[in-house]
Amino acid sequence: MEKLRVAIQKSGRLSEKSLLLFAECDITLDSGGGRLLASSQDFPIEVLYLRDDDIPQYVADGVSDIGIVGENVINEKGKMLTITEKLGFGKCRLSLAIPKQENYSGIGYFNSKRIATSYPNILKEFLIKKNINAEIHEISGSVEIAPGIGLADSIFDIVSSGSTLFSNNLKEVEIVQYSEAVMIEHENLSQVKRNILDDMIFRIRSVQKAKKNKYILLNAPNENLNEIINLIPGMKSPSVVPLAKAGWSSLHSVIEEKDFWSVIDKLKQKGAQGILVIPLEKMIL
Ligand code: PRP
Ligand code: ZN
Repeated sequence: MEKLRVAIQKSGRLSEKSLLLFAECDITLDSGGGRLLASSQDFPIEVLYLRDDDIPQYVADGVSDIGIVGENVINEKGKMLTITEKLGFGKCRLSLAIPKQENYSGIGYFNSKRIATSYPNILKEFLIKKNINAEIHEISGSVEIAPGIGLADSIFDIVSSGSTLFSNNLKEVEIVQYSEAVMIEHENLSQVKRNILDDMIFRIRSVQKAKKNKYILLNAPNENLNEIINLIPGMKSPSVVPLAKAGWSSLHSVIEEKDFWSVIDKLKQKGAQGILVIPLEKMIL
């Protein structure tokens, strides 16, 4: 049977989260000998473990059908590829950083400075736009150690928690772009593979949607029931079940996490009690 081949990062910021995404979608993977290729018995995919920088090329060539990689890598070397879906994890920024003790006066600081990076194309474009004349030193890894060993004056690299910069005595001075994990696809997928991809996207969206929402249960005095229903209308409308205690109902609904704290006060004002909030695993509208 035809399988959809998915390339993910072998080790790095996105590896574990990419695997977690499969797990959340109920796709289990065999460990696979040597961890180069794994397949799934319960969903028609194969997973190829690669260096993230190589993923755009593998997908462009069709060696892998789709890939999960940072937008930063796509912007650097895969602009021709179609982004299927933004995945909402692996959020980070591509930034310029300089030694902590340096005074930073603004972007002009970088004139005639040496900048080490694995992202020469993005950096070049940025420097041209800002009219800065700097020397770009392309290196493929451990960019953060370049200033310490005298290879460069500053760096341009991914910053996520900031701990890599911190432990190398560097400080972030300019954010050039934001990035997150995205799914990319080969331009000519067979119909079978396209269908598998659609199924996978369907699962991913139901997981993402669930993460943004919570299941909410509460006890409501019947005289305020309509007002409470208006506050938490849910997907279609809330379920209302009478309580054994006369004059009260139990109300079950779904609420977006971002609205939660602002709604909760209003619910209490309307007499809601015993409010329970429960995480959701999947949500299909
Ligand atoms: C990036 C970057 C830093 C680290 C920054 O590597 O090169 O090493 O993440 O993260 P922090 O701010 O949380 O310390 P990445 O995992 O993207 O892979 P790479 O080895 O391909 O650069
Ligand atoms: Zn990389």
